[in-house]
Amino acid sequence: ESAEKGGFPSFMEKEIHDQPDAVLQTLLGRSDINGKLTLDELRIDPQLLKNVDKIIVLACGTSAYAGQVAKYAIEHWCRIATEVELSHEFRYRDPIVDENTLIVSISQSGETMDTLMAVRYAKEQGAKTVSICNTNGSTIPRESDAVLYTHAGPEIAVASTKAFLAQITAAYLLGLYLAQLRGNKFQGEIKDILADLNKIPAKIQRILDNEAQIKELGVSMADAKSVLFLGRHVGFPVAMEGALKLKELAYIHAEGFAAGELKHGPIALIEEGQPVFVVVPSPRGRDSLHAKVVSNIQEVRARGAKTIVIAEEGDEAVKAYAEHVFYIPETPVLLAPLLSTVPLQIFALALASAKGYDVDQPRNLAKSVTVE
Ligand code: G6P
Repeated sequence: ESAEKGGFPSFMEKEIHDQPDAVLQTLLGRSDINGKLTLDELRIDPQLLKNVDKIIVLACGTSAYAGQVAKYAIEHWCRIATEVELSHEFRYRDPIVDENTLIVSISQSGETMDTLMAVRYAKEQGAKTVSICNTNGSTIPRESDAVLYTHAGPEIAVASTKAFLAQITAAYLLGLYLAQLRGNKFQGEIKDILADLNKIPAKIQRILDNEAQIKELGVSMADAKSVLFLGRHVGFPVAMEGALKLKELAYIHAEGFAAGELKHGPIALIEEGQPVFVVVPSPRGRDSLHAKVVSNIQEVRARGAKTIVIAEEGDEAVKAYAEHVFYIPETPVLLAPLLSTVPLQIFALALASAKGYDVDQPRNLAKSVTVE
């Protein structure tokens, strides 16, 4: 078993370290040297994809957060309205689905019953179904019209890590492919985004090479009773995923919020010493989101929060208000979740390990939930 863990103390730690390769393998062979997507493996009539007027992403758990990240990118690139729905809520709300709806299910295992039932329901309504899945030949891809596999390799630890990054990567490729088919105004961007996606594995590796700092913080916070996570835009689902990892592994209260929502309620939770992670958007991004999130850091800090910031290299503005800053390499705004998630995974792993918990098999959880 120790050989299977590649010399790491747990499968989860190994899988966190597998992430550069998980992203690389998922990108491999899916575009040509001219920067064109080549997703012929989908074997779905391109005309049908051109006619799509709505996308609904269906997933549970970590996979649903991958879907929430993908929504920002797909809507931006494809200009197709995209909803993300938890699979178990979907078919009970009389959703509006027809033959021009594209259902994108995301499932690591391909066996999650909630997601399978939601996909079946959507098919009955005439929707086209594409599965993003990590498990060859599993039920959800078999029952879908098409499949785009994530090539993360087998994920053993119950809490998902490398599958999440691979899911975002695959969903982005699908989004870029749809944009390419539809020939919209983001055509010019596709080549650049692909080039930036190809640089992601090396950037993840750089974060992993510097993991000591975040591990130390995780160990030092082993007694924390509650940790909050704030993020905005694509950083919002990253914040929720960071909180989920901590709930799953360390059994402590953790919650992710949209930073803009802070003033509408969550700020009431802030008291002296409350740890708050803030995923800060790039200062190079549009719409002054960076300045707004920096002012959120100030707001919670003024109320006694212990602020831990994930920011882009070179972002000096955050330093004044952060107790700890973890820098991630520069990348386009939409790709940042492929980097900013990694320190949050390492933090949860280190904290849970310091408490002596089994990070591969957290209590009460199953890797794949095959009942509704
Ligand atoms: C379970 C696992 C989670 C996972 C979720 C969805 O709850 O414990 O880690 O995110 O199922 O699984 P799927 O295989 O559909 O991605």
